[in-house]
Amino acid sequence: MRGLIGKRVLVSGGSSGIGLAAARRFLDEGCRVFVSGLDPAEVQAAVTALHPFGDITGQAFDVSHEPDVSALVTAAVDALGGIDVLANNAGIAWREPFLEITPEHFDRMLAVNLRGMFLVAQAVGRHMVDRGGGVIVNMSSTNGIAGEEDYAHYNASKGGVLLLGKTMAVELGRHGIRVNTLCPGYIRTPLNASIAGAMSDGDFESDYIANRIPLGRAGLAEEVAAAYAFLASDDAAFVHGAELVVDGGQLAVM
Ligand SMILES: NC(=O)c1ccc[n+]([C@@H]2O[C@H](COP(=O)([O-])OP(=O)(O)OC[C@H]3O[C@@H](n4cnc5c(N)ncnc54)[C@H](O)[C@@H]3O)[C@@H](O)[C@H]2O)c1
Repeated sequence: MRGLIGKRVLVSGGSSGIGLAAARRFLDEGCRVFVSGLDPAEVQAAVTALHPFGDITGQAFDVSHEPDVSALVTAAVDALGGIDVLANNAGIAWREPFLEITPEHFDRMLAVNLRGMFLVAQAVGRHMVDRGGGVIVNMSSTNGIAGEEDYAHYNASKGGVLLLGKTMAVELGRHGIRVNTLCPGYIRTPLNASIAGAMSDGDFESDYIANRIPLGRAGLAEEVAAAYAFLASDDAAFVHGAELVVDGGQLAVM
């Protein structure tokens, strides 16, 4: 990808799954990377695992906790000397029928997936305005576009991320900050493994894939990482305020 060598990249939720693959991809593209995540041991393991591939540092912070977000951005700026690219990736998910969702569960989902994404984007956005530009890629989902059953709180959070991103694009473009949104479908990660593992109705993943995904397989974290790299690169220099769907055709199914 053009224009990525030497870029300083913050990957939130970079200690697992898609974020971990994105961190590796950015290192392979010649970037310097700071990863964050909720669990300190997982973040340390990610830094150790990625160390052979380039300049990687990291620290654990909770994106739903405002003081943590300030500390996260300060730590990343200190480690990298500035942030050129934000992969705003941290998120949680679990399945729950709409009629059973408690207000507390709804609040928790929104606190991490929408409010947390807003807090990180705003703090990094302010930094990028000061330094004269940058690229932000927010993580939504196909669930931000269509209403999958048993995910009302998750779908609402990811739908919010889509419009958060469009509004950021409208307001931040004039500051030289490009903002886009990723919408992956079913990707094989620890997050989905835990959801599938919690299902008791047969082989959840193979049924899901057979019924819903025209390419006939789950996506790989590396395939979403490639989309992160594209949107962050100069190859996407005129892509702004858009959502990129990476779903094996799932949203094409009627
Ligand atoms: N796996 C999929 O099929 C899929 C599809 C569409 C979108 N997504 C989105 O991609 C992102 C990554 O998902 P994944 O599947 O790689 O999950 P994962 O569970 O493997 O990784 C999630 C990451 O987010 C971090 N995180 C969670 N809560 C946090 C918090 N409060 N503060 C800071 N960090 C926190 C974790 O530490 C971890 O690094 C999420 O936003 C998810 O909603 C995933």
